[in-house]
Amino acid sequence: MGRSGNSGSLGTGSDARRLKQRLESLAAAGVTDLPRSKVKTVATQAHHRDPVPVPLAADRTPRSPLTHDELQRRSGVLAVLSQEVATCRRCEELACGRTQTVFGAGPVDARICFLGEAPGADEDASGQPFVGRAGELLTKIIESCTLTRNQVYILNVLKCRPPQNRPPLPAEVANCRGYFHKQLEIVDPDYICCLGTTAAQALLESTETIGKLRKRWFTHNKAQVICTYHPSYLLRNPSAKRDVWEDMKMLMSQLGVQLP
Ligand code: URA
Repeated sequence: MGRSGNSGSLGTGSDARRLKQRLESLAAAGVTDLPRSKVKTVATQAHHRDPVPVPLAADRTPRSPLTHDELQRRSGVLAVLSQEVATCRRCEELACGRTQTVFGAGPVDARICFLGEAPGADEDASGQPFVGRAGELLTKIIESCTLTRNQVYILNVLKCRPPQNRPPLPAEVANCRGYFHKQLEIVDPDYICCLGTTAAQALLESTETIGKLRKRWFTHNKAQVICTYHPSYLLRNPSAKRDVWEDMKMLMSQLGVQLP
């Protein structure tokens, strides 16, 4: 039976797989609740968040934890947004080529967000941001900052994979702008780290190169923004890892964490 005839059940194996992937991506994006009429099972799946986030060492500006109600509220708003993104067809070429949208991953109360460019093949297949080679490197970067991936929120400017991983077109960035802005507004981080030119230029609405945007602080709403090279660039230019390390030291020292 085709998908359209399956509204009351999980349907075929591939339908079930798709639904499972969608639920997993919602859970990873911090969505702990969905409107009751939609998908009830996500609420149970989504409680797989790391139990207790490790406090940031020597945090100079600790935040009080959010109330349960506030966490639920943020989670609900993210769920609605994620559903809107999943059905978005503003960029026809991207919508036709995608397996699924890649919304984001991480706790809804993360203090640090990493903003990337767009999903690649691995992300398009899994529904999760930064899970391919660049993602492995990003994980290492996060861990060298004495953090874990479960403590940070990871999202991209575009929610769909561009064909052959080409850079996003200005019109595509414009179409997705409302989505990543809203995500950042909901998570409301203290720090945003832009990974690469596309993320930095899109968030800061700048035309300056990443080289010029590095080593400076910017603001986006209440968040302090720092820019560094994209992990994919580091895979091609390993010598730039040293620069990224300097940028991470600058970020973490704002939090009172002195990296070696
Ligand atoms: N590159 C990105 O910018 N984002 C991803 O999710 C993966 C690779």
